[in-house]
Amino acid sequence: MSSSAWWASALSEAVNGERPLPVVYDGEELVLFRNTKGQALALEDRCPHRRVPLALGCVVGDAVQCGYHGWIFDGTTGACTAIPNLHADERVPPRYAARAYPVAEQNGFVHVWLGDGEPSDSLPAASYQPRGREFTGSAVVSLQHDEYLAVMLDGPECLIDFEGVKITDFFLGDPIRRENHLVLDRGAVWTTQLLPANFVVDYPLILRTSVPLVGGDIRVDLLTAEERLICSVFVASGANRRRTTSLCWRGFMHDHDVEGAPLRWRAMRAARRPPFTVSSEIDGAQIAALLVAPSRDLTVLRQQSRIPATAAV
Ligand code: FES
Repeated sequence: MSSSAWWASALSEAVNGERPLPVVYDGEELVLFRNTKGQALALEDRCPHRRVPLALGCVVGDAVQCGYHGWIFDGTTGACTAIPNLHADERVPPRYAARAYPVAEQNGFVHVWLGDGEPSDSLPAASYQPRGREFTGSAVVSLQHDEYLAVMLDGPECLIDFEGVKITDFFLGDPIRRENHLVLDRGAVWTTQLLPANFVVDYPLILRTSVPLVGGDIRVDLLTAEERLICSVFVASGANRRRTTSLCWRGFMHDHDVEGAPLRWRAMRAARRPPFTVSSEIDGAQIAALLVAPSRDLTVLRQQSRIPATAAV
């Protein structure tokens, strides 16, 4: 079984032992929280009693209590463990169990297993190895998930911005398949560069986007022309309701001198300003104007690689 049925679904710091966190990834409505040992847990965000979202309730010890009639569901098994006002001779009916999902945490992301069978060992965020200060965020954007992935190849400047850097339209080769991802390099220039980007032959910077054929783990790297990493961003994406996309991300600057960087860019770094911004509002007109080129095969490849998301434990 591929590791891609793991979905990075939330930032670790967003999941706590007080309030359940609702998220939607791969169309699955989930509620995330921590038990008394600090372990992250995931249940379907729907009370088995009257289908009220469990996110409206609260965390009680190692369980979630529904906000409507107060039934309590164990975070590990999903079993209903208590019903208020039950008579002494009544038992909790075993059929009232919330769906529980395997959860694993790595590198600042809570992952939920949405595939069949036993979860694999490797997690999507394993490739993200932060060093130093991180910049994080989350959003739900008005773009269908497959389109979001396609735009990340066709026009990443619509979705992410690196301060002081202009992402150009010039690809440095064709998309390359690397394991379960399509990887594309394009030229980038400093915004202080005097020549218009269209006339630059040797790009001082490379923007490398890595888009998954299964799952939702996107990686965006800014590199020097010599392929030294400057800034790395991991974006966990997945289908939300009504053709929108859930996102959460972490990124950091690599710790070395960037040769040739303009003074203004160095000053921004010294002031510890965020080096990148993931767009939470997307310009539809800008997206519509993009040529569909590098992403042409992406939809077909994703369909071929798709894993049924039906797991329940
Ligand atoms: S709807 Fe959840 S306990 Fe009744």
